[in-house]
Amino acid sequence: MKEKRDVLTLQEMSPSDILAVMDKCFELKDEWRRGLRRRSDLEGKYLCLLFEKPSTRTRLAFEVAAASLGAYPVYASSSELQLARGEAIPDTAKVLSRLVDCVVARVKAHSTIEELASCSSIPVINGLSDLHHPTQALTDVFTMFEVKGKKKFKVAFIGDGGANTCHSLLICCSKLGLDVDVACPQGFRPKAEVLSLADENSKKSGSQIRILEDPTQAVRDADFIYVDVFVSMGFEGERELRLRKFLPKFQVNKRLVEEAPEDYVFMHCLPARRGEEVTDDVMDDPEHSAVWVQSENKLHVARALLTTVLGR
Ligand code: CP
Ligand code: NVA
Repeated sequence: MKEKRDVLTLQEMSPSDILAVMDKCFELKDEWRRGLRRRSDLEGKYLCLLFEKPSTRTRLAFEVAAASLGAYPVYASSSELQLARGEAIPDTAKVLSRLVDCVVARVKAHSTIEELASCSSIPVINGLSDLHHPTQALTDVFTMFEVKGKKKFKVAFIGDGGANTCHSLLICCSKLGLDVDVACPQGFRPKAEVLSLADENSKKSGSQIRILEDPTQAVRDADFIYVDVFVSMGFEGERELRLRKFLPKFQVNKRLVEEAPEDYVFMHCLPARRGEEVTDDVMDDPEHSAVWVQSENKLHVARALLTTVLGR
């Protein structure tokens, strides 16, 4: 990683940087499970969580992570900051750099986090933007390693190929040599700029990335079936159009998973819109669904990432 360790897209991390975070996740999760929930790695550090959008998992994971490592988390909704009255991002970045040691920001436009990072002297972690959700992809791949072991596998991402979660999975998996099939309707493919990064990464790592229109083809030899909501935050105005495009073909339901290998694992970043992108029987299937492990793993990733980014 470069000197100021921003995590904006995962493209800035090398495969070995990502694998080192994964190793740290395994170590910290094992300790956590054994009841060792206090460390002093980040004693005396302060973390700002600057959020423009709602969050349950990411916010709580980073707050608990910071506190458990000896750091102090400060949550700030952008609507309550002077940002809401027009204070500029570069000015806010300079102030934050003098008050805290790291910022986790959830923003509407990806350009906001780029500006925040370029004007800050402290590390900035992307807690979700319209284009990327890097901490989620780290969580997803950690969960995959935990469930199936560290081997080459294939992920079938069904639905909105332009979702932040899909973009980050494409970047993370293509760095690590993992295969991804994205099954999405016309007009909802991953952004060209992300596909071109994934292609570039795949040439080095040997992963295979395919964009398909048939979810059945994608799940047929998939180890993991992944779905995100069809209407991400900020896209509510397209709700009717999106539901017409995605339903019923791209819903992950019993009929679709019957086409998958018997040992497939279902994943969802959450929150889910039950009955839209996934049915209850798939999401609540104790034999196949990893969604609750995934949500717990956000904490272990947050702890691993904070120690990596802020570690002395
Ligand atoms: N998966 C995820 O990022 O959830 P939150 O929106 O609750 O943080
Ligand atoms: N794609 C979703 C992810 C939520 C965690 C969204 O941006 O709303």
